[in-house]
Amino acid sequence: MADVDRAAARASAARVWRRRARAELEAASRFSRLGDELAAVGAVGPVVAMARDAASDERRHAEQCAALVRELGGGPVALGPAPPARELGPRGLGARERVLYEVVAMSCITETLSAALLGELVSRAADPVVRENMHRILRDEIDHARLGWAHLAAERERGVGDVIGAYLPAMLAGTVAAEVLFSAEAEDPAQDALSGLGALGRGESRRIFSETMRLVVLPGLRRFGVDTARGEAWLAEHEARLGPTV
Ligand SMILES: [Fe+2]
Ligand SMILES: [Fe+2]
Repeated sequence: MADVDRAAARASAARVWRRRARAELEAASRFSRLGDELAAVGAVGPVVAMARDAASDERRHAEQCAALVRELGGGPVALGPAPPARELGPRGLGARERVLYEVVAMSCITETLSAALLGELVSRAADPVVRENMHRILRDEIDHARLGWAHLAAERERGVGDVIGAYLPAMLAGTVAAEVLFSAEAEDPAQDALSGLGALGRGESRRIFSETMRLVVLPGLRRFGVDTARGEAWLAEHEARLGPTV
């Protein structure tokens, strides 16, 4: 690859890691609030502890992302405290249901997707520093997804009904924004070099989004009594709108 292409790929990857650093800070702020809210609604102890651990993991991820931006020549990233993360749960729900909504959206869906996207990127990483950082982040994101499934299971056991199924289209639509955090702004001629540096092409990240929702997230939710019909309909429409992914 020509030096000019290599430099362009590094600059493009640095922009993706910069967006991700900000998203990690927002996740830190969300898990920090969720830790308190989970405790307040009487969530089981291990889930509360996992949410608090997740908040400090996300802060560390932001620092790792910022280090990668520097490594790729992208300059410093401001890592001040993130503004409070906006609540995701609909106003009409009670406190306990709102927390369940946000934990499912954040952990069961977004973190599961992040783990799938990172797994793909780790397998393609060409740069050892990028690979090592992504691998460490991946291990944590798997735990963050687990806390969501553990909370959903515990709430179902306590007799909480299906407060998720009706909202799945909104949750999935919100998750598409997370997928964008892993992709370059547009299909890039230097895409192979980019995926080696931690950024997927849009078509590929969309394909992984669809597969992860269809094969992991929706079946997982069904296992815990969530009616996923609206989610499946939303996904089919989303896929039809975007056309073939690769
Ligand atoms: Fe993270
Ligand atoms: Fe996470």
